[in-house]
Amino acid sequence: MPIDFSNCEIRTPENPLELQHLYGMLAEVFPTEKKLFEDIISGAHTLYSWKPYTLYYADEPVGNVSIVMFQLQTEGRLQKIAGIASVATPERYRGMGVARHLMNHVLKVIDAQNLPSILFTSLPRVYAGLGYQLVDQGVKQTAVRQLGQVNVPVQRLTHLTGEALDTIKKLYSETLSYDGKLLRDEKYWRLYGNAANNSDKTEFAFCMSGDKVSGYARLEYESDRVLLEEFYASAESLTNTALWNWICAAAAEKGKHLVSLALPRKHSLWNFLQINDLPLMQEAGVEREVFMVRMPQKESTAWLAELRWALSDKF
Ligand SMILES: CC(C)(COP(=O)(O)OP(=O)(O)OC[C@H]1O[C@@H](n2cnc3c(N)ncnc32)[C@H](O)[C@@H]1OP(=O)(O)O)[C@@H](O)C(=O)NCCC(=O)NCCS
Repeated sequence: MPIDFSNCEIRTPENPLELQHLYGMLAEVFPTEKKLFEDIISGAHTLYSWKPYTLYYADEPVGNVSIVMFQLQTEGRLQKIAGIASVATPERYRGMGVARHLMNHVLKVIDAQNLPSILFTSLPRVYAGLGYQLVDQGVKQTAVRQLGQVNVPVQRLTHLTGEALDTIKKLYSETLSYDGKLLRDEKYWRLYGNAANNSDKTEFAFCMSGDKVSGYARLEYESDRVLLEEFYASAESLTNTALWNWICAAAAEKGKHLVSLALPRKHSLWNFLQINDLPLMQEAGVEREVFMVRMPQKESTAWLAELRWALSDKF
């Protein structure tokens, strides 16, 4: 039976019972995230600045689109940007225009603030007619190959302690600087640490210089490769080499033959690998969600078409 939208209401659920119903619906649509939704209900997790817009039909949640508000550094200033997340229609209500109806509503909210918006999806068709455009994330790949050994200790971290998280936080906040860098506030760092610790596919390495950390890398194990999602090394090439060798050793240990690199456009590692004769190719043979952006009405937004969104900040 088609949905009569004039009998429906879009609102943000606020009381515990409504939230429980919404998370129940989301767990049905995204079964792999069930544990996360249970943790949220129990208060163990939050979803950063996640604001749901839920379509109710006779008090039943029949669809949802959420906005996650971020700030990122671009052209020397901080820009607010609206992420689209948790786009979900339960199977029995699909194909009736629920997602389209909710997206139109949410885009009015976003346009009223003249904000750019972004999303990751495996279904770009759902968003193409709404003004979203694909932005290539420039992920490259290379074969696993270690460089000459260097005598620099690297510490592997399969779990982030509070202290390790503080170290990464410091390096990220004080040292890294590039267009598209996300402002990670305290609430975000909590989410970041929890998400990394809940995943058995995420690992970090610290490169040590005495008792100081001179660089870190974050990688994700995938079916046939490792994905390098974050890499910081002080200008010194020994740190680069030590971390790169660790990435290759970690990949080889798990029987992976490829390293994919999802790094900012101007990252120094691109140059470092070139100098060391490691050929980089356009990534192939892996299915990733695509990244889409939608320009706001009134501002110059050439930067958006160049935006790379760190996969460790994927939402
Ligand atoms: C994707 C999803 C939200 C679509 O919800 P829906 O309410 O059935 O979508 P609508 O009926 O409003 O369709 C909106 C548009 O998307 C298109 N569309 C919907 N599902 C699609 C699919 N699986 N593949 C391609 N296009 C699709 C429709 O044709 C329609 O386009 P049109 O207006 O140009 O005809 C729903 O199938 C779902 O919850 N899927 C599982 C979760 C998911 O993948 N979420 C998206 C993550 S980004």
